Amino acid sequence: MRATVPTSSAAPWFPRLHGHGGASAAYAAAACVALVTFLAVAAWDPRTQASTWFRSSPSSAPSSSLTSAGGVGGEHLLATASSYSGGGGRGGRNRTGKEVHEEVRGGGDGAFLSLITSSSDYGAPRQISVTPPPPAPAPSPAAPATASLAAGIQDEVVEATPQVQMRRDVKLERLELGLAKARSAIMEAIQNRDSSRPPLADKDYVPMGPVYRNAYAFHRSYLEMEKLFKVYVYEEGEPPVFHDGPCRSIYSTEGRFIHSMETETRLRTRDPGLAHAFFLPFSVVKMVQMIYEPNSHDMAPLKRTVADYIAVLAAKYPYWNRSAGADHFMLSCHDWGPYVSSANGELFGNSIRVLCNANTSEGFAPSKDVSLPEINLRTDAVDRQVGGPSASRRPILAFFAGGDHGPVRPALLARWKGSGDPDVRVSEYLPRGVSYTDMMRRSRFCLCPGGYEVASPRLAEAIYLECVPVVVDDGEYALPFADVLNWDAFSVRVRVADIPRLKEILAAVSPRQYIRMQRRVRLVRRHFMVHGGPPRRYDAFHMILHSVWLRRLNVRIAAQG
Ligand SMILES: *[C@@H]1O[C@H](CO)[C@@H](O)[C@H](O)[C@H]1NC(C)=O
Ligand SMILES: *[C@@H]1O[C@H](CO)[C@@H](O)[C@H](O)[C@H]1NC(C)=O
Repeated sequence: MRATVPTSSAAPWFPRLHGHGGASAAYAAAACVALVTFLAVAAWDPRTQASTWFRSSPSSAPSSSLTSAGGVGGEHLLATASSYSGGGGRGGRNRTGKEVHEEVRGGGDGAFLSLITSSSDYGAPRQISVTPPPPAPAPSPAAPATASLAAGIQDEVVEATPQVQMRRDVKLERLELGLAKARSAIMEAIQNRDSSRPPLADKDYVPMGPVYRNAYAFHRSYLEMEKLFKVYVYEEGEPPVFHDGPCRSIYSTEGRFIHSMETETRLRTRDPGLAHAFFLPFSVVKMVQMIYEPNSHDMAPLKRTVADYIAVLAAKYPYWNRSAGADHFMLSCHDWGPYVSSANGELFGNSIRVLCNANTSEGFAPSKDVSLPEINLRTDAVDRQVGGPSASRRPILAFFAGGDHGPVRPALLARWKGSGDPDVRVSEYLPRGVSYTDMMRRSRFCLCPGGYEVASPRLAEAIYLECVPVVVDDGEYALPFADVLNWDAFSVRVRVADIPRLKEILAAVSPRQYIRMQRRVRLVRRHFMVHGGPPRRYDAFHMILHSVWLRRLNVRIAAQG
């Protein structure tokens, strides 16, 4: 099934790597799924006070990010991607007007859009939307093609003949129309948040309560996703660097997602012409294992691999150029994920980057990119690690054990390690015979500072074990699923400068408050679960896809006929 790499391609291609090329992706996927279960992470974000259920993005997102200049100059663009904004944010944050690009096309839906409130992150990339798309609906010459379109499914290679071009535009129009309807439905749900309408029906789970920014709107959006959303996974590339990834270790969410996507049926399409989003199925962790020369400090070959991959896809298919990458997404849990994503300016600036290393000080844009939970899967049996005692059976106030590295931990260890305070147990390594899991179960709060990078597997671990997570950073970590989850409700965030006051801050949480928070931790756990076997509704896999879905809704792609 996998398309083979065209040997005649003028574009550079990466060598077939190492000996594993024979394994089919499907085989690899099945193997991985049999092995493990998924999970996820959480924490709370003080910056988000917008009234919308979606997180607002920090206006501090550096515009430094790569400019998309290389690809975005204009004349080669077949299409325009525009960011939506406005609408729903009433009473929310101010928006800087300049990058707000409101366009109403085909009437009506232009008013919505602010699933993500601030569009400032779109600043650089949204140069591509400088030119408004052509007026609705499709350019009239395309109209006759509509009827015939339904009959034929495009073959994967689209030739640039005018006729084919026209047909493709009609397909795109139809996809965008579907997305516009979903937007309206979600928008309506957002506007009705205060009314006492009955919850939506759901045989598995009905999101409710303060752990969500807007439970009803989230539910509506989730159901719309299930109804409509289709992802195309590019077939090019050989395992292990493509279509494969680590299923265990702290990077497991990378491999688990890639494998789950390979075996997904419902939210995936084999016909790129029917796709709302395109997945670039490479694994940065595998690249580091297979391509990186240890100790060389030369990451250029990794970037080259990604740049070449995109060049091949952009030459072979119309989809990348059509949106300048805005409806494409990549995913990585490796620290180097953001760096590797800079291989292509459009990938960095326009595409949805799903990253564990979600540091807003390093170009991570919460309204465009997705924060991927880091989950340290050691065994197949995450389910067995789940659960913990009630507050009254947790004698320790706060607990942390971990290496002294990265920007935050030195301050934490310097102040609290060996302090002798029985309430705050902070150490690098646990004494022999002391179980890390038991310590988390005996503690009311679990400290989750990042390591070398912002993300920490401790967030998910704390949530599994019903210990209230404490994020320690200066606000630069974009927390996973903060687009729908209200982290305030079930976690605490402490600034680095407040580390000396840690005990005071946590002790100020009353027992009643604590019990509420702990109950909510139990509630959100479902969204961080990674199950053995196929993913289940509302689990980490589907929450990641839902985050991608929301960001895709924030972009409209207009074909230029
Ligand atoms: C997409 O754009 C690139 C760079 O301008 C070009 O080389 C490639 O041929 C284009 N792809 C298609 C399918 O037209
Ligand atoms: C986030 O990125 C900035 C800029 O590179 C860095 O100074 C900071 O230490 C990072 N934060 C964490 C918690 O890693």
